[in-house]
Amino acid sequence: MTSQFTRGTEQVRDHVAAQLERARQRSKLLTDAVDDHDLVRQHSKLMSPLVWDLAHIGNQEELWLVRDVGGREPVRQDIDELYDAFKHARAVRPELPLLGPAEARRYVSQVREKVFDVLETSPLEGRRLVDGGFAFGMIVQHEQQHDETMLATHQLRVGPPVLDAPPPPRGGPVGPAEVLVPGGPFTMGTSTEAWALDNERPAHQAFTDPFFIDTTPVTNRAYAEFIAAGGYTDPRWWSEAGWAHVQKAGLVAPRFWERDGDQWYRTAFGVTAPLDPDQPVVHVCYYEAEAYAKWAGKRLPTEVEWEKAARFDPATGRSRRYPWGDEEPTEAHANLNQRHLSPAPVGAYPAGVSPLGVHQLIGDVWEWTSSDFHGYTGFEVFPYAEYSQVFFGPDYKVLRGGSFGSDQAAVRSTFRNWDYPIRRQIFAGFRCARDASPEELA
Ligand SMILES: [Fe+2]
Repeated sequence: MTSQFTRGTEQVRDHVAAQLERARQRSKLLTDAVDDHDLVRQHSKLMSPLVWDLAHIGNQEELWLVRDVGGREPVRQDIDELYDAFKHARAVRPELPLLGPAEARRYVSQVREKVFDVLETSPLEGRRLVDGGFAFGMIVQHEQQHDETMLATHQLRVGPPVLDAPPPPRGGPVGPAEVLVPGGPFTMGTSTEAWALDNERPAHQAFTDPFFIDTTPVTNRAYAEFIAAGGYTDPRWWSEAGWAHVQKAGLVAPRFWERDGDQWYRTAFGVTAPLDPDQPVVHVCYYEAEAYAKWAGKRLPTEVEWEKAARFDPATGRSRRYPWGDEEPTEAHANLNQRHLSPAPVGAYPAGVSPLGVHQLIGDVWEWTSSDFHGYTGFEVFPYAEYSQVFFGPDYKVLRGGSFGSDQAAVRSTFRNWDYPIRRQIFAGFRCARDASPEELA
């Protein structure tokens, strides 16, 4: 087992260094792929200019690792305010006097140089912020999360393709369409995962009734049937808020879909191609997921149900780190790390199946759950309220499992993401669940 909490201090240092380096390679790839004009312009009101994300990555790293953990002099205190995500909405960031591309690149490498120095000399214990390399892990995850955001900006960018990756592996058999998850308690959340964020903590006992969950995320084929059946024009399937939104926004299909005759096309990273019917649907908002599920005679899983399906091993009663076990994801387990530029067809990862036979819970597409974002019982802010606590409440829905654009440093079965129910630029899809009837349990 190679989790952070079983590593010795020198191993933690090596692991941190490798993870920092991997994150930076990805940030470079995403920002070197476009010219300066594309770096500073806004590709969508929903997103920051790429050059903002880049310098913001450096600024967070400076705040936490150079100044706090390292106790060093600031590199650029004068720019803190510009890159504080809470001070300026994304829509207005292009008007700020931001660092230009060359300056931003210089800044992030200056910070990184100091961070490697801090990493060499920091004791990595004796203070909760550094125990097990936590602060470094938090910054690695922060950079990878912004890299996923930058990947979403690339998806919104209009123009010839600039990113390239091999196609995902082929699909395969997936067994029955849904599986029964037994009712009863299981361990949710974690108190032992060294780099788990405050909202994943603490480990606690959660309970579900028996329920069925789909073996795979909802595919493009299935979703196209919902459209063909008039799903977008029938208020029966939509919640009140969802129906209001679908009409106001004029939604008729997932974002980036276009129809030509009977054929649907999808544009991904500048390439338009016929829809792959076996890939999970992506770029749907919560309301669309909710409406599809109702049309299908089902519902979305709660967050508790999703985590149970992803972790609970009925043979031992134990909760795993990942659906397949405790070992870190490999290429065989899940579609992660921007290795491919799309979700993989269902059944592409037989090695990643959960004990109950549920496929592709990790990677491919973030999965909307029906749950609002809240702290678990026993939640404690760590290390700052702006990480999660300020987002708790009914405005956000929880998403689980990560996407093809999520890095494995920032995904595990306890990992929680959240967003507004109208958001579609994120790499989000969903799977359905339903209650088990007494006859089915007899
Ligand atoms: Fe951030």
